[in-house]
Amino acid sequence: MLITIDQLLDKSEVQTFRDQLAQCEWEGGARSAGTLAQTVKRNQQLNDAHPTAQALGNIILRKLAQHPLFVSAALPRRIYPPKFNRYSDGGTYGAHVDSALMFLPHSNEQIRTDVSATLFLCEPEEYTGGELEIEGHFGVQTVKLAAGDMVLYPSSSLHRVTPVTTGARVASFFWIESHVSDDSERTLLFDLDQSIQNITAELGHQNASVLSLTSVYHNLLRRWI
Ligand code: NI
Repeated sequence: MLITIDQLLDKSEVQTFRDQLAQCEWEGGARSAGTLAQTVKRNQQLNDAHPTAQALGNIILRKLAQHPLFVSAALPRRIYPPKFNRYSDGGTYGAHVDSALMFLPHSNEQIRTDVSATLFLCEPEEYTGGELEIEGHFGVQTVKLAAGDMVLYPSSSLHRVTPVTTGARVASFFWIESHVSDDSERTLLFDLDQSIQNITAELGHQNASVLSLTSVYHNLLRRWI
């Protein structure tokens, strides 16, 4: 499932992020990539230990925890501390698949990556290229969102970022370990949950069919968790 979450950050929050990120020193992105990805990755990243990365990352995590659409779609168990990257001067990230297991920064603990997230921090007209291309069952989907918008996609999918030939593309990216690792199961739960929300608005919480479908949702969740 590929889903976009509009305006996770509003425009003034985006500006605050960008002002702070503009003060930071970026480093070569290839050093954090897996062996396969290293050869195709040409961008810049903020060090995980950078205080700005940590402070802005925490703002994102707080927003996500309160976002019903995100919670419904990702069913998050653990979230990798958000990272930040920057593409300019032809910077690109060729086709790759994200590692299934990632060590949390400064820890021996690993999380399983089920859902990948990119939060765009630049407006699409500020740079040329920089499309996130995600391969799915229905072909390649091209994603280039407004600043403050976020896309979620299965970590199992092959994806790439096309070269940024003018301007710069700054984004935050991270991974989610979901309570439900399988994308098709997670998608069914999401569709069911969204439908229940819609009919609850029409019929109310106490309606017998709403109660019954809510029970089906939780019993499926229990089965797949
Ligand atoms: Ni990736």
